[in-house]
Amino acid sequence: LARGAAAPDLAGRHVVISAGGTREPLDPVRFLGNRSSGKQGYALARTAVARGARVTLVAANTALADPAGADVVRVGTALQLRDAVLKAAADADAVVMAAAVADFRPAVYADGKIKKQEGREPDPVALVRNPDVLAEISAERALKGQVVVGFAAETDDVLDNGRAKLRRKGCDLLVVNEVGESKTFGSEENEAVILASDGGEVQVPYGPKEVLADVIWDQVASRLAPPSE
Ligand code: CTP
Ligand code: CA
Repeated sequence: LARGAAAPDLAGRHVVISAGGTREPLDPVRFLGNRSSGKQGYALARTAVARGARVTLVAANTALADPAGADVVRVGTALQLRDAVLKAAADADAVVMAAAVADFRPAVYADGKIKKQEGREPDPVALVRNPDVLAEISAERALKGQVVVGFAAETDDVLDNGRAKLRRKGCDLLVVNEVGESKTFGSEENEAVILASDGGEVQVPYGPKEVLADVIWDQVASRLAPPSE
């Protein structure tokens, strides 16, 4: 699909996209967070609107303008993101998990600000696992034929780790980025390989996140069941 051609190949479809990064509170003023800006997820939302989809964007702690034409649901924590994504996925043709979901959250939330103790080192922070939203969505499939897409940020053995993660998650497509200090986070551009559960592998060269988004939608669109009338 040529960019800007706006072939409405997603018309009549509902797509759900998660974007940004969850924040897991320790106390009223502190959280565990990550460096996801949400730009790739927002690019997915804009391009899906342009291709005619009804779009629900579940945005975790992003500082970006709402994409025109998308329903934006704002969330903070991984548990809130899970609720919002599962709710929206109930009638979705495709779910794309572009958000960086915290793997762990503090085991306890302190109602008051945690204070320093005179002459004493701080207590360690105990963590517990968050649910894996992508694995859950992939296993449950609210609708038959729902296409589920995950993202993976890897620093080493990118393809091997990606293939293993695709199998572990049970999704249809996994978009694998190589990340590092200056790569991907907050940047306008991205480079990725899209791995498919049917063995497919699509290389997307370094370029605007909108271009990667359109290639992802091409891959999703080719896997959607024919529209039901
Ligand atoms: N994901 C999710 N729920 C989680 C963690 C991750 O839905 N609790 C999703 C992310 O949105 C992403 C995909 O899973 O689409 C892969 O995330 P990643 O952090 O790479 O995978 P993990 O299984 O958490 O592996 P790792 O130990 O490498 O962090
Ligand atoms: Ca993780």
